[in-house]
Amino acid sequence: MVWLTMRDDAVPGAEDFLGPVSDDGGARLVESAAGGSILVAFEGELESLAAYFHDTYHRCGGFATFSSLEAARAAITAQPGDAAVGQVGAPSLAAGESAAIKRLLPLVDRNQILSTIMRLSSYPTRYYTSSTGVEAASWLRDRWTQMAAGRDDVTVELFAHAGWAQPSVIMTIEGQDAPAEKIVIGGHLDSITFSGSTAPGADDDASGVASLTEVARLLLADQVRLRRSVVFIAYAAEEVGLRGSNEIADQFAAQSQQVLGVMQLDMTNYQGTAGTDIVLFTDYTSPTLTEFVDTLAGSYLPELVLSRDSCGYACSDHASWHQNGFPTVLPFESQMDDYNPTIHSSQDTLSVSGNNADHAAKFARLALAWMIESAGVSGGAQPGVIRLAQVAYDIEGLDGRGEFVELYNTGGTPIDVGGWRLRNLDRVRLLPAGTVVPAGGYLTLARNADGFTAMYGHPPDLGRAVPPLRDDGDRLRLRDASGTLVDEVQWERTDWPLTAGVGQALLRTAPGGADTNTAADWSVAAAAPH
Ligand code: BES
Ligand code: ZN
Repeated sequence: MVWLTMRDDAVPGAEDFLGPVSDDGGARLVESAAGGSILVAFEGELESLAAYFHDTYHRCGGFATFSSLEAARAAITAQPGDAAVGQVGAPSLAAGESAAIKRLLPLVDRNQILSTIMRLSSYPTRYYTSSTGVEAASWLRDRWTQMAAGRDDVTVELFAHAGWAQPSVIMTIEGQDAPAEKIVIGGHLDSITFSGSTAPGADDDASGVASLTEVARLLLADQVRLRRSVVFIAYAAEEVGLRGSNEIADQFAAQSQQVLGVMQLDMTNYQGTAGTDIVLFTDYTSPTLTEFVDTLAGSYLPELVLSRDSCGYACSDHASWHQNGFPTVLPFESQMDDYNPTIHSSQDTLSVSGNNADHAAKFARLALAWMIESAGVSGGAQPGVIRLAQVAYDIEGLDGRGEFVELYNTGGTPIDVGGWRLRNLDRVRLLPAGTVVPAGGYLTLARNADGFTAMYGHPPDLGRAVPPLRDDGDRLRLRDASGTLVDEVQWERTDWPLTAGVGQALLRTAPGGADTNTAADWSVAAAAPH
């Protein structure tokens, strides 16, 4: 037996559709209050009821499901105000957050998002009672676990639900300074179909899960450590009454957890409204948090056009949190009139979004900025490592004039590289005592200081510090004062197929990110010393 809450005007239709609850004509309606009505139903009736609501009310229907009358009652009588548990205030746009946001925003990779959507939408269905819905949860748990490899501050777990097979998936990156304070982002893992045999749910809501997975990937690959905890959730059983998120939000509330903000990403990859990128929904959400996200977008993503609209009902998992008094925000793919028309059908595939994830990438960027800004960057300076970050080996005219190498310090404290050695295949240079790479910064080493200055218009940090670099394939190694290999890069060699043309340089794509010690870490760009 389950209890459903819905708007009063939906009750007559639901009563008609469901019929009496028992042979002797038992009433469906249990009670009504200011916030809505409570009806009783059987678990097995939910799927067809959801289909009925979808057909009949489309945008103004909707019901939520509860496993007890008390919980349903609490939901309709609660009139959550804004920010019952406090929330992050105006954007600080503080130095630490700003630097981390600016470093990571360009690294949002639409192809990563695309591949997550492809994977999730390849299951025939992710319906909450299906075996493939369970498999999708296991796959996502494994993917998140793989992204968190080597991190002892991260937990990835399945959240089992009592009434059905599909678990929710939850990943927490523990905060360094205030771990009890949490910033939550979620999307729903399940899919549903009211027409057709498969439920790919590419937009609804593989897209949202893929957008937030990209945020997690970048936060985990970078050296940044956040002050507060950040929680990523893929909810089970959204399509049948926000059931997974109801249980999770209820549990957070019952445990008096401090959740400062909850972002829901449900449908991010279909740009239905021309000229509009992200629509912030104003119902079941916090006006303050919504304004905050809008302001952040204005600061960090000025190229995006944002607007406001409303769902008109408790249309996704943010409502479960809102019901419990937590501040929520819902960035949506389009104006309500223009949303993806294929959802809840076998046609909800990537082809409807042009087989790309360009729109979903905007949501990943917004969510990334929001998570870093609201979780805060841990002030404690964190020591990092030195990496080779740029190598210019092929210069117009005399190589000796313009060749340079840059070192990057991934951490928050300066690193002394005096006594370190830079060696290519046959020559070596010793870095003099007192040479320091600044925190989170670069050190530019030139072969010839005067030539470098003439070519790039400013002097290098150090001249005579780079051995002659070969244009037709070479290997550059950096060793510390004890002789330990710190980093290397090779070019124009069979297993390092990197080629910089004249005036170009090898550039480490994510200097603060993962280091695979392969050509995959590098790209080619115009030589541009910092
Ligand atoms: N992603 C939809 C909600 C949605 C659809 C929002 C279209 C905006 C435009 C969500 O997965 C969904 O289908 N929700 C249900 C309600 C739920 C309580 C069963 C719905 O809208 O019918
Ligand atoms: Zn959805």
